[in-house]
Amino acid sequence: MNSSKENQCPKESLTPKWKEDFPVDVDQDAHIARRDFIRFLFLVSLGLFTGTLGTFWKGLFRSDRKIKPFRILGKEDVEVEGSYVFQLPDAKGPAILVRLGTDEFVAYSQKCTHLQCPVIWRSKESKLYCPCHHGAFNVKTGDVLYGPPDRALPRIHLDFRPDGIYFKSMDPGL
Ligand code: FES
Repeated sequence: MNSSKENQCPKESLTPKWKEDFPVDVDQDAHIARRDFIRFLFLVSLGLFTGTLGTFWKGLFRSDRKIKPFRILGKEDVEVEGSYVFQLPDAKGPAILVRLGTDEFVAYSQKCTHLQCPVIWRSKESKLYCPCHHGAFNVKTGDVLYGPPDRALPRIHLDFRPDGIYFKSMDPGL
């Protein structure tokens, strides 16, 4: 009869076969995982920091408040109830000037405040209309009349001089 000592397995035999075939140092493995995670966090932070810096930099050099006055057109170059589309400098996009009466002019950014489609002047309905999603704006105030836009059109302030109508300034939002 074998003694109980003889029945006991040797210590090595308690280790499963797969562990012998694929030895993994758990402590080392956890250390590498932590290191990878910290590296990941660092890269994400770096990306966020770079994005913030870019936004700050862009904001610093935004020129929409600095557009110098320029002549848009002569007063008689557009008929009453007519409109005229012109370009704002510094790639600020198109703008629309509408002549509402003999001496009544208004101008706005032509970019719809929904998704920036160009608005068009509909004289018969007396409104600025966006054909993309059927939005409309009050031509006298730029306020939204209906449709998806939730902000008024940014207004352009005009200066009337003897030789024509000039861009003077514009509301923020372009
Ligand atoms: S872009 Fe003008 S309503 Fe959508």
